[in-house]
Amino acid sequence: MQKAASLPLPPADALAASDSLATRIGETIDAAGGWLGFDRYMSLALYAPGLGYYSGGAAKFGRDARDGSDFITAPELSPFFARTLARQFAPLLAQGLPRLLEFGAGTGRLAADLLLALEQDGQLPQEYAIVELSGELRARQQATLAQRAPHLAQRAVWLDTLPEHFEGVVVGNEVLDAMPVRLFARKGGRWHERGVARSVAGDDSTSAHAFTFEDRLLAEADIPEALHAIPGDYDVVTETHAEAEGFARAVGAMLARGAAFFIDYGFPASEYYHPQRAGGTLMCHYRHHAHPDPFLYPGLQDITAHVNFSGIAHAAVDAGLTVAGFASQARFLMNAGITDLLMTLDPSDARTFLPAANAVQKLLSEAEMGELFKVIALTRGLDDGEPLAGFARGDRCHAL
Ligand SMILES: C[S@@+](CC[C@H](N)C(=O)[O-])C[C@H]1O[C@@H](n2cnc3c(N)ncnc32)[C@H](O)[C@@H]1O
Repeated sequence: MQKAASLPLPPADALAASDSLATRIGETIDAAGGWLGFDRYMSLALYAPGLGYYSGGAAKFGRDARDGSDFITAPELSPFFARTLARQFAPLLAQGLPRLLEFGAGTGRLAADLLLALEQDGQLPQEYAIVELSGELRARQQATLAQRAPHLAQRAVWLDTLPEHFEGVVVGNEVLDAMPVRLFARKGGRWHERGVARSVAGDDSTSAHAFTFEDRLLAEADIPEALHAIPGDYDVVTETHAEAEGFARAVGAMLARGAAFFIDYGFPASEYYHPQRAGGTLMCHYRHHAHPDPFLYPGLQDITAHVNFSGIAHAAVDAGLTVAGFASQARFLMNAGITDLLMTLDPSDARTFLPAANAVQKLLSEAEMGELFKVIALTRGLDDGEPLAGFARGDRCHAL
């Protein structure tokens, strides 16, 4: 485990905010009788009003630690990500589905670049709705749109809740991995739920060590279904994703006609719960360092888990959607034409072409985002005979 001491120290005001959040989490633990499920801890650490990582003032997205950011996402890395998605979305918008809805829009970069690309493709949506949990990010999204696409900014609207009925195209990049997970540990063949308790008094009193894991033995009837698929009795720590699956069902209830695309890192269940992944996928990001300690600086670092795409697919199918495609990000972007788009730049103009090509390479490379990230498409009521271009080759729906 990477020690707090080896990570950059937050400024004093950020540490004070983290301490306030730690106090609030501590009170919540006390009120719950001394133990909180990890999903509740993660929810508070990321989304507690004003103090959580996504709801507070952390910089979050950026290129490196010098700008105070913690990680970079595909829309921030390259505009070719949005431009390629636009290629996939344009024919859908043309089918009489003139609305786009983005979940968790981050800095607003994907929204701005998608609108610009769709304008170029002659398929501007009438409306670009954004569902964002964080007021701080909503303000950043408005500023990004005003700066990058001022003439299109008025098409964006922010929604506080999911619409009851939506016809159009839905997109969420790295949203499912930001949803709280429950943690479970199989020790000596017996399943426990891994929750959070206060550290024992006398331990290091910094907020980084205010909390500790505590495992509670589960009755057989309380062991989640997904865990029964893990054979043997070797020791395991893993996650389940009830919130993300509930979200997929809610998207299914909302989507009357159209397609929803979710892009994220993760696997089908058979890989997720494979013996080789017996340590689980919980991961934290602080100043571009990835480490496994969720109790470091609550509210100042991102906490994520990989996505179990089989769970998402089954929840969506339960809600009446069709899984129209599941592919690696590299396959999806190449099928949808990212290399053609890149070649619209002049390769002899090295100053423009090389950085653009390097960023696209990161999106596609197996060693970077190309294979770990997947794209799933969930549809309802689309015209038959119009397969989605992004899944033309290398579709892995059979693996879900
Ligand atoms: C890792 S960030 C990704 C941001 C952006 N999509 C990007 O790719 O840069 C996760 C985002 O998901 C949002 N989020 C998490 N759960 C959500 C939910 N249930 N509905 C809408 N947004 C959500 C967070 O507030 C945050 O903006």
